[in-house]
Amino acid sequence: MEQKIILVTGANRGIGLEIVKEVAEMGHKAILTARDEMKGKAAAEEIQRKGLDVYFIQLDAADESLVNKAAKQVADQFGKLDVLINNAGIFNDRENSLSVSKKAIQEHLDVNFLGPLMVSQAFIPLLKKSEEGRIINFSSQMGRLNGMGGGSAAYRFSKTAINSLTAVMAADLTSTNIKVNSMCPGWVKTDMGGVGAPKSLQQGADTAVWLATSEKIPTGKFFADRRETEW
Ligand SMILES: NC(=O)c1ccc[n+]([C@@H]2O[C@H](COP(=O)([O-])OP(=O)(O)OC[C@H]3O[C@@H](n4cnc5c(N)ncnc54)[C@H](OP(=O)(O)O)[C@@H]3O)[C@@H](O)[C@H]2O)c1
Repeated sequence: MEQKIILVTGANRGIGLEIVKEVAEMGHKAILTARDEMKGKAAAEEIQRKGLDVYFIQLDAADESLVNKAAKQVADQFGKLDVLINNAGIFNDRENSLSVSKKAIQEHLDVNFLGPLMVSQAFIPLLKKSEEGRIINFSSQMGRLNGMGGGSAAYRFSKTAINSLTAVMAADLTSTNIKVNSMCPGWVKTDMGGVGAPKSLQQGADTAVWLATSEKIPTGKFFADRRETEW
């Protein structure tokens, strides 16, 4: 197996942390990033105690200077990146499109859309140094245009926007070694998904781990349960 260097955003808890654990257990080098230095270090140390190859770097997806600092740290420490997983996300507002505030929309776009855009731009030079760079964007079925429902408008807008980012960036990178895909983890038992969610952390991490580590993947697609799905 070729050992990959895999960076995950928002990985101090939830699906991101599960992805880090699983790829490290598979023998890859995992870079656990988090916006809170103490929480990120504590999460990384717990995995390191099992003897696994996990590194912590602070990265707030909504803070461009910390994003650029993190990219420089990865460049200095590893010289390249094989897989970037844009997992960090928020879901803080349940208002529908008739009442949602501009502030809530801006907050969701900052973390769920502009964050992955800035992080991808910062890490593309390092992904170009990989044999096959991969960007995996965390979307949601709540951002799917086909069969779109109402409610939770700020979150839905941000997840539709990240799907658009995937499609546009995949096209802009066609002539390079970098593949860009979106995925939905399903409804997962995390702080965001709640205790009533039907999927376990392992089930929620599965498609991202598969996209990160499987031998062949396409580009510019939207996946759920390891299968291509409609936008
Ligand atoms: N759970 C579900 O049912 C579900 C369904 C569809 C899609 N998703 C998507 O899956 C991804 C992971 O969700 P989850 O359920 O694991 O959520 P979660 O348990 O709430 O964890 C979210 C993670 O994102 C981090 N984060 C938030 N804002 C950030 C920022 N500005 N910079 C860096 N990290 C930030 C959080 O850090 P802090 O600890 O510092 O807050 C936390 O580590 C999200 O993109 C979510 O939209 C989840």
